[in-house]
Amino acid sequence: MAKSFIRIDDNDHGYALAQFCIPKHYEEDLDHVLIPAGLINDRTERIARDIVEDFGHEPIVGLCVLKGGYKFFTDLVDKIQILNRNSRQSVQLAVDFIRLKSYVKSDFISSSSANVSSTETSLASSIEVIGGDNLENLKGKNVLVVEDIIDTGRTMKQLLELLESVGPKSVKVASLLVKRTKDNVGYRPDYIGFEVPNLFVVGYALDFNEYFRDLTHICVINENGKKKYSTKS
Ligand code: HPA
Ligand code: MG
Repeated sequence: MAKSFIRIDDNDHGYALAQFCIPKHYEEDLDHVLIPAGLINDRTERIARDIVEDFGHEPIVGLCVLKGGYKFFTDLVDKIQILNRNSRQSVQLAVDFIRLKSYVKSDFISSSSANVSSTETSLASSIEVIGGDNLENLKGKNVLVVEDIIDTGRTMKQLLELLESVGPKSVKVASLLVKRTKDNVGYRPDYIGFEVPNLFVVGYALDFNEYFRDLTHICVINENGKKKYSTKS
């Protein structure tokens, strides 16, 4: 049975910034709060329960996709640990990390192919693994990939191909957010926190050019924020 998720409607403008505590340095750069931290926390608790129930007695390896996935990952792991010590059912959990860089096809070919190993080139033509443990360690394991957001789904599809190549026992994906966009390649994760409108969201480790990771709530960036933190001058 497909798991449920919280759908945030296109007409839902969330909460005014003034209703929550926002760091002074970001006050001018955001439009509204889309998902308050408390709601993220409660939804994460339920996803943790679903995971423990689904995996039963099988040990798993949580694979955190850095950097954006780190908050969801640590909170999810905390909640799985709470369940593990408070119930008769528990799931043994190891942790692993991976950092990816995705390229648009054109700049991948022109500027980055020299850095990519031959296996990665053949398996995933536009993602590069730029950090983390050796993927070979996942061979024969039940892997739970933990991601912050699925947008087009392209990065995740390529990551899954790469993971399959090392021969895991199983692979499941938990993504805190899934964006509603017509550009999605048709990929849906196994566990979804929230389905969100096609807007650029930041906070709770999601960034815009490395800014806003230090924002507690998930918010929608405004034009001022995009301009201020743009890498183009
Ligand atoms: N915010 C942050 N990172 C992202 C987004 C987003 O809306 N979409 C894809 N990566
Ligand atoms: Mg991500």
